[in-house]
Amino acid sequence: MATGFKLGCMSSEVDLIQADAQQQSVMENLLQLYIHDFSELAPCDIGNEGRYSYKDLPFYWSDASRLPFLARFDEKLAGFVLVTKISEQSADGEAYDMTEFFVLRRYRRRGIGRELAEKVWLRLPGRWQIRVMATNVAAHRFWASSIARFTGRAAESTSFERNGAIWHLFSFDSRRQDPETHPLWFRGREST
Ligand SMILES: CC(C)(COP(=O)(O)OP(=O)(O)OC[C@H]1O[C@@H](n2cnc3c(N)ncnc32)[C@H](O)[C@@H]1OP(=O)(O)O)[C@@H](O)C(=O)NCCC(=O)NCCS
Repeated sequence: MATGFKLGCMSSEVDLIQADAQQQSVMENLLQLYIHDFSELAPCDIGNEGRYSYKDLPFYWSDASRLPFLARFDEKLAGFVLVTKISEQSADGEAYDMTEFFVLRRYRRRGIGRELAEKVWLRLPGRWQIRVMATNVAAHRFWASSIARFTGRAAESTSFERNGAIWHLFSFDSRRQDPETHPLWFRGREST
């Protein structure tokens, strides 16, 4: 059947696109959904005009240490990622913080978040830190599972307290994969 053939040929890849300044308003719109999700886990008040505020967003187009990405799945917007570079190039290479990470609800539990995270780690090889609020149990499971799959090792987090809230911190290096045991890393590098 023609439809079946078409579906079979459709790309189901996640595309990671560095967002340009014209796409800042797109990111602003997605941040509304992201912060609304978070308001179930942390006290996020909405402004009187009915919008959440994310003051740091403009820096993602003015500060070279901030990297904004949009995600597309089958050519439709599926989420976004905000990354902050936390050190200059040194003998130990770059270090990055996964500052915000979001998959739209329609696309969740289909492996899209995992594929998106892998694309980010391959695009920006270096040391990574990922902070997760202890109340965000789903995200903790997601990061533990995604990092373990990417590195081939169990992912462990440490805990810390900030402003009365408990956070978990994952740290790992997205460069140190063994080609024998982790061919995923080498396949991914070819396609990014
Ligand atoms: C967390 C989030 C990014 C996961 O995205 P996703 O595309 O649904 O994740 P995936 O489908 O790639 O999940 C990969 C694995 O992570 C784990 N996982 C993902 N979501 C989970 C959930 N809600 N509960 C438990 N485990 C979960 C599972 O092990 C899953 O594998 P499985 O589906 O085969 O069991 C998404 O739910 C989201 O955007 N949440 C709101 C924003 C957020 O919390 N961001 C992270 C901030 S630190």
